[in-house]
Amino acid sequence: MKKTVSLPIRPRRLRRTSAIRNLIAETKLSPSQFVLPAFVTAGRDKKEPIGSMPGQFRLSLDHLLHLAAEAKEVGVKALALFPQIEDVKKDSFAKESANPDGLLQTSAKELKNKFPDLCVITDVAMDPYSSDGHDGVVVRRERPTNDHDSASSLEIDNDATLEVLGAMALAQARAGADFVAPSDMMDGRVGYIRQLLDADGFTDVGIISYTAKYASSFYGPFRDALGSAPKEGDKKTYQMDFRNQKEAVRETHLDIAEGADILMVKPALAYLDIIAKVAAASPVPVAAYNVSGEYAMVKLAAAQGLIDETSAILEVLTSIARAGAKIVFTYHAIEAARAMN
Ligand code: PBG
Repeated sequence: MKKTVSLPIRPRRLRRTSAIRNLIAETKLSPSQFVLPAFVTAGRDKKEPIGSMPGQFRLSLDHLLHLAAEAKEVGVKALALFPQIEDVKKDSFAKESANPDGLLQTSAKELKNKFPDLCVITDVAMDPYSSDGHDGVVVRRERPTNDHDSASSLEIDNDATLEVLGAMALAQARAGADFVAPSDMMDGRVGYIRQLLDADGFTDVGIISYTAKYASSFYGPFRDALGSAPKEGDKKTYQMDFRNQKEAVRETHLDIAEGADILMVKPALAYLDIIAKVAAASPVPVAAYNVSGEYAMVKLAAAQGLIDETSAILEVLTSIARAGAKIVFTYHAIEAARAMN
């Protein structure tokens, strides 16, 4: 007889076999929850590896269509598009962003033509189009700033930016986007965009708002991919301070009042508490963005043989869902879906 102690409560009973573990698992991920972000570039037959994001590429439209087919095959049916704009097309008002024949618009249109049941999400922010590399209209102050933290005299004009964002969102809706996703963090942009879309008859185009987007160093590889890093200063006067939680709840209430259909928290991994808070406060579905720097960390650690790639990816994505995200934007979408299928 095995020697035992009297211990009526034994949590390990529920961990004994994989059948039992699966039976009681609280969080179940499905590829249908993933959104795959994709980088588009002009031209044909281009598939340029992104050095800071192993396994990710800047794709010309023909390759983007292949990627969409590949994603669909493994059950990933939503794509978020980010354009790489040539420097000559950038200016301080991001005018190219409203061009009906611009790269993002033509890509969205073609994707919806070829795959009508795909959910196409387009990013609304100036940075890929801005010669300043900011998400808003830059104005230079006459008098020197008192804020010794930011050495520059750079200011982002909130209300001038709204106009640019509105025109951009309209162009994207006209191109067939299912959702426009303002990622800029200007005040009032969700309501402003909603009103413009409705006035133009796009009542069915939804808004995924980057509700709580923090000023984060984890965006580095993304900015490298698009060449969209700020030329001067940082994004701390509009993106949120990572020391704060309450602001995320405040932004949640504002975005709901302004008509957002889905809220987003970004980044995801260092912000699981924020995802949980926003999810608790939100009457609409919450998404989280597993950003470029988080992707790169997993990829590089796996390439060094420090962690097992597939299980690390599933752990990361499950933790984001467990925190309360119903939707996960992730560059791992296809490989994760494959592992899950
Ligand atoms: C642009 C935007 C950024 C990301 C998504 N949209 C960069 C930024 O705000 O500087 C980052 C995504 C990622 O790192 O994967 N507004």
